[in-house]
Order: sequence, then C-alpha cells, then structure tokens
Amino acid sequence: MKIRHKFSTYLFIVILPLFILSIIYWMHLERSIQKERLEQAEWAGTVYQEYIDKVISETKKNLELLSLSSSVLYLDDKKTEHLMKWIKDTDPRYAGVYWLNQDGVSISGTNQDFFHSYLIGQDDMDRAVKTQKAVVVGTKESNNPSLHYFTIFAPILDHDKKAQGFLLVQISLDHMEKTLKMLIPNQTLMLESSDKTRILDINAGDFAGRSPWVDVPLTEVDWTLSVKMPDALNTNNMNVFLMFVFFTFFFTHMIYTIVEELIVRSNTKNQKLLIDRQKIDFVGTLAVSTAHEIRNPLTGIKGLVQLLGEKHPEEQDQFYYSVINKEIERINSIVSEFLILGKPMAQTLSLYDIRSIIAELRPIIESEARHFNIEVEWNIIKEPIRVHCTKDQLKQVILNIAKNGFEAMEVGKELRIRIYHENERAKIVIIDTGKGLNEKDIGKVFEPFYTSKKEGTGLGLFVCKRIIDSFNGTIELTSKPLKGTTVTICLPLIKEHP
Ligand SMILES: Nc1ncnc2c1ncn2[C@@H]1O[C@H](COP(=O)(O)OP(=O)(O)O)[C@@H](O)[C@H]1O
Ligand SMILES: [Mg+2]
Repeated sequence: MKIRHKFSTYLFIVILPLFILSIIYWMHLERSIQKERLEQAEWAGTVYQEYIDKVISETKKNLELLSLSSSVLYLDDKKTEHLMKWIKDTDPRYAGVYWLNQDGVSISGTNQDFFHSYLIGQDDMDRAVKTQKAVVVGTKESNNPSLHYFTIFAPILDHDKKAQGFLLVQISLDHMEKTLKMLIPNQTLMLESSDKTRILDINAGDFAGRSPWVDVPLTEVDWTLSVKMPDALNTNNMNVFLMFVFFTFFFTHMIYTIVEELIVRSNTKNQKLLIDRQKIDFVGTLAVSTAHEIRNPLTGIKGLVQLLGEKHPEEQDQFYYSVINKEIERINSIVSEFLILGKPMAQTLSLYDIRSIIAELRPIIESEARHFNIEVEWNIIKEPIRVHCTKDQLKQVILNIAKNGFEAMEVGKELRIRIYHENERAKIVIIDTGKGLNEKDIGKVFEPFYTSKKEGTGLGLFVCKRIIDSFNGTIELTSKPLKGTTVTICLPLIKEHP
C-alpha cells in the first residue's frame, strides 16, 4: 500500500510532468527549428532572386540600349562580329551574343554553330516588336554544357517601328550557378519557368514533394525560384533538449523529495495526535469506569480510620492516622479529577454570566489564598459576560489554575484574576508572580500526568484543557522562569439573550 502510494506520488510529481514538459518543449523546439529553416530558405531565396533579377534587368537594359543605337548606326558585318565578341568577352555572364535578321535567323555572332539557325520563335519576336522591349526566353535544359543558357533578346526597330533585326544574348547558366553557389553555399535550389520547365537547379536531384521548399517569384520574368529548406540547422538541438530533460527531472525530483518529506512529517504528526487521542480516550474510559468504584470503598476506609483514631488517642497512632488520612485525600483528589475527565462529553452547555460563576467561586479561592498567605486581586469588567459552559466545570478550571498559581508562589505575593471581553471573546486571565516555567516544560503542562510536584497528579491543566475545548474555547499558558506565569482562557462571547 505504502509502495503503491509512493509510486503514484512519483508518477504524478516526477514522471508525468517530466513526460508532458519534455513533449511540450520538444514541440516548441521543432517549431522554432522549422521557423528558422523557413526563414533561412526565404532569406537565401531573396538573395538569389535579387541576383538573377539583376542579371536579367541589366542585360535587358544593355540590349535595349544597344539595339536603339544599332538602329541608327550602320554597322558592317565585320564590325558587328567584332562588337558581339567584345560584348561577350567583357561580361562573363554571357555565353553568346548574336545579331539576327527580322526572321529571327542568326547572321552574325560569337558561336559559328548557331549561324543561319532560328534562335527565337515567332511568338517571342512578335511580343518583342509589340512591346519594343527586350524579351526573356527560357531554354530547356540540355545535356550539352555549351547549350546551358537562357536567352534575352531585344528588337532593332526602324522609324516605322518595324523589326529590322534582333540582338540576342545567351546568359550562361554555368556562370550563374557558380555565382549563386558562391553567394550562399550548400543550398538546394531550382529555377522554373511559368510552364514548369526547369531552367536551372543546384543539388535539386529529383523534385519529390514540394512541402519543404520555399518559392520566391522573380520580378523581371514570370519564373519561380524554389529554395529547399535546410534539413538540419543545429546539431546542438538534441543536447539542448537533453539538458532540458535533465534539469526538469532534477527539479521535479526535488519537488518530489520535498513533498515526500512533508507527507512523512504530517504522518508522524497525525500519528502523534492519534496516540494522544487514544491516551485521552483511555484515561477517560478508565476514569468513568473506575472512579466511582474507588471512591465508595475510600469513603468506607475514611470512616473506619476516623473511628480507629477515636479509639487510639496515643500521639504515635494519631500521627499514623493523619498520614493515612492525607493519603486518602490524595487518592480522592486524583479520583475527583478522573471523574471530571469523564464528564465533558455527556454534559450540555448552558448560558452563564461568568461574573455570577466568579461570585460563587470567589470565597473558595480567597480561603485557599489565605491558606497560602497570598493576596488575590480581582479585576472584573462591570457588564455581563455571557458564555456557553457548565458552571461546575468552569469553576473547576479557574480553581485548578488559581491553585497552580498559589503553589508556584512564595508566601506574600499576589495573584491577579482579570475577567473582560475583547474581539467577541470572553477572557479569563490568571496571572501569578511565581517561579514560572522554562520553554521546554511549557510544552508539557497540558499533557496528562505531567507534574513537577511531589504530591501533584499532573491532571489539573489537562482536565482544564479538556473542559475549555468542550466549551469551544482556548487555553494558553505563557511563562518566564522566576518571573511568573499567565494563563489565558478565551471563550466565545454570547451577545444577546437567546
Ligand atoms: N502557575 C504555574 N507556575 C509554574 N508552574 C506551573 C503553573 N501551573 C502549572 N505548572 C506546571 O505544570 C505542571 C502540571 O500542572 P497540573 O496539570 O495542574 O498538575 P499538578 O498541579 O498536579 O502538578 C505542574 O506540576 C507545574 O510544574
Ligand atoms: Mg494543579
């Protein structure tokens, strides 16, 4: 049972929180990694896109400018070829530069292989003439590296805006690939035209599953650049996670240890309370069942001793009888306390003005005080203080405490009894200037059978506490060695007559 309980505590404090927190943290880690990967891919995409757009826009501008000047300058074939070569050589981004006639057939250029072949389609030519702007044409990827390019061309227009010919540049995809790889290494990317023709790819391989890719559109042409999200960003993630698990385990374990400790402590406390309760119950039962049985024969013995005393008037015998009588008295007082102990449960409480109870008790206390040669100072509030109690029991309590005071004091000192109310509570405070108690003993005074007196029963304060508890009140004892002791009784104050 205990092991099962321990296991469930461990389960709820250590295992479950550890498990749940780890999952939450792992999910959080995954999400942030995903976000970081996405951001990195987006950033790389933007860098690539800017570069490609720049190449295209610059080429377009150059071609447009060149075709404008070509339309007004007369150039012979030799010069044209020279110019083409010069353009290609000055810019490594270009794979080839060509001069085409109005039908799109190459008539001059940097590569002899393309002479007299159609380098552009009719649709693209019409578009260029219509817009009077340079046009970008994606070329299908080819296994031949020398054909690894895409094309930009611009129309050379006459005064009537009719095409005289075209200037065409092949952009080297090899060079572009090299530059892109240099810009950000180790990225996987792909450039596709609007009809999904692949123009360029770096490390792309088979294009399976689009999900981990980020698409960035180009601004100069309706192509799309796709950048793959990096697979793993940070190999430290596992370490960070394990660290988190370790610390969480450490903390939950610490909490578990504390909780276990608290449980053990409260168990011990409960056990102690239980034992005390059992002790009290035992004493109570014992008291009820035996007190009367002891008292009756005791009365008989007392009577007989008295008779014997009258029969034997010798001094020695009288001394013996007086000792017997004293001892009988002592038994009687213990039995009386036992009887009170058995009572509280059975009795019902009634409403009393404490002052009326005090009025009856006062002569008894005062005669006791005279016996001890001690003055009693009474300090009683001049208005009714109503409480629910049992008259005889409350008398017993005050008498017990006052007697303790007398017994603790030397002759000639003063006992003060204050009766008042405060914060809805009736208060009875009994102050003596006796020998007091040290801290350790204060804790024991309400325990049954604790006594420091030779003839004490150790039941007085125990009985008091039982009685005051049954009145729903509290009793406290404060004391300083050699200074004196104060006993304070608080009872719920009843305001109105019921
Ligand atoms: N007013 C007091 N001044 C000093 N010690 C006290 C006082 N009241 C109680 N005590 C201590 O508490 C113990 C228990 O008191 P009590 O329960 O009345 O039993 P008893 O009077 O029979 O010893 C006393 O023996 C004494 O040591
Ligand atoms: Mg006493």
